Amino acid sequence: MPFQTQKTMQAVAIDRFGGPEVLTRQTLPVPDIDSDEVLIRLEAIGVGVWDPWEREGAFHQLFRERYGVEPTFPYVIGFEGAGTVAAVGADVTRFREGDRVYADRHINPKGGFYAEYVAVVADHVVPIPDGLSVEEAGAMPVDAITALLGLDSVLGLCEGESVLIFGAGGGLGVISR
Ligand SMILES: NC(=O)c1ccc[n+]([C@@H]2O[C@H](COP(=O)([O-])OP(=O)(O)OC[C@H]3O[C@@H](n4cnc5c(N)ncnc54)[C@H](OP(=O)(O)O)[C@@H]3O)[C@@H](O)[C@H]2O)c1
Repeated sequence: MPFQTQKTMQAVAIDRFGGPEVLTRQTLPVPDIDSDEVLIRLEAIGVGVWDPWEREGAFHQLFRERYGVEPTFPYVIGFEGAGTVAAVGADVTRFREGDRVYADRHINPKGGFYAEYVAVVADHVVPIPDGLSVEEAGAMPVDAITALLGLDSVLGLCEGESVLIFGAGGGLGVISR
């Protein structure tokens, strides 16, 4: 029996871009997965300062450029979250149903993370490591990737090297330690 049995899910979606008042709880279809995707039953999601920009339509142009189509409504926002793999696409070999994972996908074409389920390309999904709670994993991806880009891609920090971070009490500072 498949792990995922639900056909519909609860989500916080918008029917037009706008202020906080456009966010409504809706019953929506659980997204279908393509062969390279993973369906995650979400238990914790990250709420970021960038979420209002998505809700207001600031990424509309980026969505069109990336996917070649206009965003459609109802539209589920949200960039990150964690939970359990509910189904895997035919070409996905790294994950199985029941795996504990977290994921990040800026502007997800099949809907974001303010929902019970999200379909994400497997390349954007990773196992939750031992010692990390599902809540920590769900809130971490965007901050963690940004911190990693700073330490790795920008600074080229190598093993054994140290860097002094001013203002290390914030999201990026804490995660860079
Ligand atoms: N989070 C992301 O994913 C992300 C993505 C892209 C870019 N960024 C950029 O990266 C920067 C850090 O992001 P963040 O998420 O870590 O922000 P954050 O959680 O708000 O943390 C900012 C940190 O900077 C400190 N700070 C602020 N003004 C300072 C000052 N004048 N002197 C010394 N320390 C000061 C704060 O100290 P107090 O706690 O004492 O106030 C806090 O520890 C921001 O410029 C943000 O726009 C972040």
